[in-house]
Amino acid sequence: MKVLAFGSEAVIYEKEGIIIKRRIKKGYRIKEIDERLRKTRSKAEFNVMRFLYENSLNVPKPLKYIEDKKEIWMEKIDGKRLAESFSLEDAKEVGIMAAEMHNLGVIHGDLTTANMIKAGKRIYLIDFGLSYHSSKDEDIAIDIFLFKNALKSKHNDVYKEAYSAFLGAYKSKIRKEFKGIDTHLKDIEERRRYNESY
Ligand SMILES: Nc1ncnc2c1ncn2[C@@H]1O[C@H](COP(=O)(O)OP(=O)(O)O)[C@@H](O)[C@H]1O
Ligand SMILES: [Mg+2]
Repeated sequence: MKVLAFGSEAVIYEKEGIIIKRRIKKGYRIKEIDERLRKTRSKAEFNVMRFLYENSLNVPKPLKYIEDKKEIWMEKIDGKRLAESFSLEDAKEVGIMAAEMHNLGVIHGDLTTANMIKAGKRIYLIDFGLSYHSSKDEDIAIDIFLFKNALKSKHNDVYKEAYSAFLGAYKSKIRKEFKGIDTHLKDIEERRRYNESY
């Protein structure tokens, strides 16, 4: 097995075209609590992936979940992380995907180009470690805000056009009325500005 990535919560291995995401021990937590947390979070992540995959969202095919090892086995997506290969054309695709995910009642929780992989013309969404089920406008707005911020900090050269392309595509696909989401989005931005000036 080859180690592909070493994050703060998980190690990613690759084995013959399969990705294994194992949630690692956190020494600062009491052992029993750590065990339980890793199990429930890892299982929740697997379940969200399966739900989205079954509903035709572009996510790696979840293969199996091994509870005692806290491992998620999934299809490997052969491609490049969007963080390293982002272009303006991708923004529209991400907008469509985010709206479809929100239409299914899922909040990603860490919507950045580091959690997207481009393979050919398709973009895949990965890393559902912070995902949860919600259709609330304010939760949806947080996802959009996170993505906007990721564009601003990681892809600043195309940020404005990219965000506008993302939003245009998003609005064309989202089934909820965007006005409600937008109110929360403006609210989050307002609070952010206020906090930053102090
Ligand atoms: N299904 C996959 N196919 C290809 N690469 C993957 C896959 N899942 C994860 N990776 C790689 O591993 C990295 C970390 O995975 P991720 O699920 O984002 O974990 P973390 O929670 O540590 O951020 C990703 O940025 C990506 O490069
Ligand atoms: Mg990640």
